[in-house]
Amino acid sequence: MSKITAIAHSNLAFVKYWGKRSPELNLPLNGSISMNLSSATTTTSVEFHDALSTDIVTVDEHEAAPDFARRVTKHMDRIRALAGQSAYAYIHTSNSFPAGTGFASSASGMAALTLAAVHAIGLSMEERALTVLARLGSGSACRSIPGGFVEWLAGDTTDKSYAVQIAPPEHWDILDIAVVVTEETKMISSSLGHQLALQSPFWQSRYLMMPERLDRVRTALLNRDFPLFGREIETEAISMHAVAMTSPHTYDQGWHSGIYYWSPDTMALINAVQRWRTNGLPVFFTLDAGPTVHLICPADQQEAVIGAVRELEQQQGNQQWSIVVSRPAPGAHLL
Ligand code: PMV
Repeated sequence: MSKITAIAHSNLAFVKYWGKRSPELNLPLNGSISMNLSSATTTTSVEFHDALSTDIVTVDEHEAAPDFARRVTKHMDRIRALAGQSAYAYIHTSNSFPAGTGFASSASGMAALTLAAVHAIGLSMEERALTVLARLGSGSACRSIPGGFVEWLAGDTTDKSYAVQIAPPEHWDILDIAVVVTEETKMISSSLGHQLALQSPFWQSRYLMMPERLDRVRTALLNRDFPLFGREIETEAISMHAVAMTSPHTYDQGWHSGIYYWSPDTMALINAVQRWRTNGLPVFFTLDAGPTVHLICPADQQEAVIGAVRELEQQQGNQQWSIVVSRPAPGAHLL
């Protein structure tokens, strides 16, 4: 069988997936809306060999960490089962961005692996089925299969929980300017965060407002209404974090009142964005399960926003934040 290589972009959620109906199937409790990120990609090649007695997984030029290799093999087992085949494969993967920078490598990684493995094993699948399969590997990976701006429909069974394109990448020239304030890895994984979300007394109210939130974000996106879009996505990010911050848990044997993903620099940026907007700069923020602040602005504001960030960085004592700029990007594709 031949070697097949696929590339997929990570994605940034404007309406967040936070809380699962089924952890085994990665069925979310609410729908979500995202944009593929041009600067964050995973490239994965898959080549089946009859002589192998296990999958051989490498990341860049190194043997993969055992946990990562296990996740890959578990996903490969799903694809082997679908194809009714048993051969193992050489799987090589590399990311365009370092781990711990606030980009979901599991999203781009599982999307690229799904596409490469499905083709390498000789299955033919439509986009919708590919999104379902990628979702089983990692929830948000389903949103990295279609291109541009994507909605993941929650669904209550596996076949009904899939992702579709809302608009192609060229629909709207907006940017994600990610400000990576620290490269420390987070203590509470998003998998645990999803589980703990239901402990929050505010989870229910977030859940109840979701259908309306999804409608408003989708409509603002389709109408390219930046002020409305910005207000909705910023409020949404805070709503997800309000749930996280009020999800009590025990971690490392200690009791914690909630999950706090922000660092002092995250908070400095949040405050600065409000000031910048008052002074006329069109910029809003969103935050995933980590301290990285994603600044969303029209593409022609790139220089002004980066200038403002660098000035703030100086005021904070020259922190050496890294900045990663992404435009809307295409879906997963073969190379
Ligand atoms: O796909 P996971 O389990 O890494 O969860 C993603 C969670 C968020 O990034 C916080 C939100 C989202 O929808 O991407």
